[in-house]
Amino acid sequence: MTTSVERLKRQAAEAAVDLIQPGMVVGLGAGSTALKAIECIGERVADGRLHGIVGVPCSAQVASDAQRLGVPLTTLDEHPVLDLTIDGADEVDPQLRVIKGGGGALLREKIVAQASRREIIIVDEGKLSDRLGTTWALPVEVIPFGWRTHLDFFASLGATVTVRTADRNAWFRTDSGNLILDCNFGPMADPDALAAVLESRAGIVEHGLFIGLVSAVVVAGKDGVWWLGGKKG
Ligand code: A5P
Repeated sequence: MTTSVERLKRQAAEAAVDLIQPGMVVGLGAGSTALKAIECIGERVADGRLHGIVGVPCSAQVASDAQRLGVPLTTLDEHPVLDLTIDGADEVDPQLRVIKGGGGALLREKIVAQASRREIIIVDEGKLSDRLGTTWALPVEVIPFGWRTHLDFFASLGATVTVRTADRNAWFRTDSGNLILDCNFGPMADPDALAAVLESRAGIVEHGLFIGLVSAVVVAGKDGVWWLGGKKG
């Protein structure tokens, strides 16, 4: 049975996929909402509406899903500049700042976002938030070496940390073999300043704050679909 949230995700995905033109190079984001976009792209490739497009997957899982759904793939080595990326998010604020990384793909997602002319985020309205950190802990990817040394650092910033686990309580490993620390800061007073602090810390590979990277956010809610940042953003 399709739940209402699943329907909203599909609506947001379809609105974003409408931006894709034949022949484009498209970033394929990770997560359940971005998967709806990949399904939609696959359908339009199959019926000829999106001939000549190629996708850059943001994770190994996305690559496998896209292959299964008939979306032709390429790499950043072959196409270092992308026309458009469609990705999901965990929390979105009114300034188009977002938290990502619920699926652990934040590093590749950010690399692909940086390489994209437009980064389109698709969400259901439940992801909207006045202040980032209200509903979601910030995922931070760290190399395994010395990861425990970060715990005091995050405590000094006011966060409580959970090491992300996978099956049978083994640590979750990213596609790059790193760990994810889910850092609960609560509502953030200044996400930009926090991002700068995290970026100055050795051992932190990347964090899930996407600031100044998002062109537009497509939101699907019970009253319809709307755009933050404008359809041309
Ligand atoms: C993957 O690492 C994430 O950034 C996802 O894009 C994000 O967690 C949103 O996922 P859902 O669409 O499944 O909520």
